[in-house]
Amino acid sequence: MKNLKFAVIGAGNMGSAIAEGLLKTGIITAGNIFMSDKRKHILDNFKSQGVHTSDNNLEAASFADIVIIAVKPYHAKSVLEEIKVVIVPAKKQIISIAAGISIADIEEVTGKIPIFRTMPNTAISIQESMTCIAEANSTKEQQKMILNIFNLLGKTVFIPEDLINAATVLGSCGTAYALRFLRASIQGGIEIGFHAEMAQLIASQTILGAAKLILATGHHPEQEIDRVTTPQGITIVGLNEMEHQGFSSALIKGLITSYNKIKK
Ligand SMILES: NC(=O)c1ccc[n+]([C@@H]2O[C@H](COP(=O)([O-])OP(=O)(O)OC[C@H]3O[C@@H](n4cnc5c(N)ncnc54)[C@H](OP(=O)(O)O)[C@@H]3O)[C@@H](O)[C@H]2O)c1
Repeated sequence: MKNLKFAVIGAGNMGSAIAEGLLKTGIITAGNIFMSDKRKHILDNFKSQGVHTSDNNLEAASFADIVIIAVKPYHAKSVLEEIKVVIVPAKKQIISIAAGISIADIEEVTGKIPIFRTMPNTAISIQESMTCIAEANSTKEQQKMILNIFNLLGKTVFIPEDLINAATVLGSCGTAYALRFLRASIQGGIEIGFHAEMAQLIASQTILGAAKLILATGHHPEQEIDRVTTPQGITIVGLNEMEHQGFSSALIKGLITSYNKIKK
């Protein structure tokens, strides 16, 4: 894997986050990454780290074995049109993160080359993404390699393409939902006596620990909640009040509203 060459086309939020994540692995070196963006100056930070940079997408795609399409969805097809001359004959592997661009959309331009339609989240920059991947035309070996790459950047699952919209809501919008929960916890923490900074530390680490407990044990959340809720205790009264106020219902309704919008 350490000799694989990557192109990242589009160096905005996600493209930069992916490149940062790849560099932090320590396995993929700066010299094996080529980033292109039409605003060349935003690549300066990467250039100073030894990453190849250009405003020429074709140059980036020519360099790479794996081409990551990280532009906005409405630019994805024109970028594919631009680089197909080098990716199609060589059957280079395409990783697209463009929301709403289907494998069929990509195949319309490229034909049947290995395509990975992925849905990561912004925690990819610190190697803590949840990345869901749908694939087409790839070998088991290529799938294993893509899995290994994304496992360096967090956790990864392969899913059927018809679940990508649901993955977008749960896994990518999910970052924002979780951060709203965190923000509310901090606001509550301030009201009960902590300075903002301390409240943020306590709430963030508590949420991180709770999520890690579930990932490490495989327990259902309610099993861990039962361990914290003493009969007639302080936790259960707080939890029940949150439910009276519609906590779980609000979250589920929000998630479904996002899903209904993405389906349109
Ligand atoms: N944010 C998330 O959590 C998330 C999660 C999963 C997937 N995604 C997907 O990630 C993709 C990128 O989103 P983002 O938030 O990173 O967008 P972004 O910040 O706008 O980044 C895209 C970058 O690509 C540049 N660009 C536009 N057209 C180009 C072209 N023809 N050639 C080269 N570069 C070009 C843009 O420049 P200009 O600004 O000058 O146009 C911009 O710098 C989207 O397709 C989105 O659906 C996002």
